[in-house]
Amino acid sequence: MNTDLGNYRKSYEKQELLETNVSDNPMELFQKWFHEVDENFNIGETNAMTISTIGLDGFPKSRVVLLKKFTYEGFIFYTNYESEKGKAITNNPNVCLSFFWPAAERQIIIKGKAEKIAENLSDGYFESRPRGSQLGALVSNQSNVIKNREVLEDKLKTLEAKLEGQEIERPKFWGGFIVKPVEIEFWQGRPNRLHDRLRYQLDDDFNWNLDRLSP
Ligand SMILES: Cc1cc2nc3c(=O)[nH]c(=O)nc-3n(C[C@H](O)[C@H](O)[C@H](O)COP(=O)(O)O)c2cc1C
Repeated sequence: MNTDLGNYRKSYEKQELLETNVSDNPMELFQKWFHEVDENFNIGETNAMTISTIGLDGFPKSRVVLLKKFTYEGFIFYTNYESEKGKAITNNPNVCLSFFWPAAERQIIIKGKAEKIAENLSDGYFESRPRGSQLGALVSNQSNVIKNREVLEDKLKTLEAKLEGQEIERPKFWGGFIVKPVEIEFWQGRPNRLHDRLRYQLDDDFNWNLDRLSP
């Protein structure tokens, strides 16, 4: 196979990102960009982000998860703590999150440390989920090898019958992680590949320092 994509080329011309126009705190700029993209571009899952972890095998691995909340403290997503990513984070909490919003010609890259959120917060979010998603979390030993699809369908049916009419409790193996950022880079595509890149880094006194990076 030989598929040449050399002619895939796009000029980025929509917006600019200037030091004079940004907040001292990158979470405020994140919030601004998130809402601008969410409201002005019809891109579906604005909150879909890639999380890269360093696995127990030493390889980095990236996959998409959904951002469910962000505050000044960090970025929260939910998953199975016993999944491949869950085990990777337990072993090495250093992770990278990234967002690519092509319609807005924007990318955000976040380095941070992941930790489990408080149990009561995971309980609260689990309770708010539709029953089908709650059952799905119970059914799936995420990242384990299974024989076939029927294994899942059968387990779901059995659980549905067993728990009919009952409230479903959050399983302890499922919950939220918060990624507390130490570095956040904002990338805005510009003409002639001279893109704007502003990088915030947290120093030892917990102040954010801002630098412009060459594209
Ligand atoms: C749009 C999208 C959203 C997803 N959201 C989540 C999520 O919020 N939590 C999650 O555990 N997996 C989510 N997944 C599935 C993950 O990408 C991944 O397959 C799963 O978490 C298992 O990853 P692991 O085996 O590396 O731990 C999502 C996938 C896509 C494509």
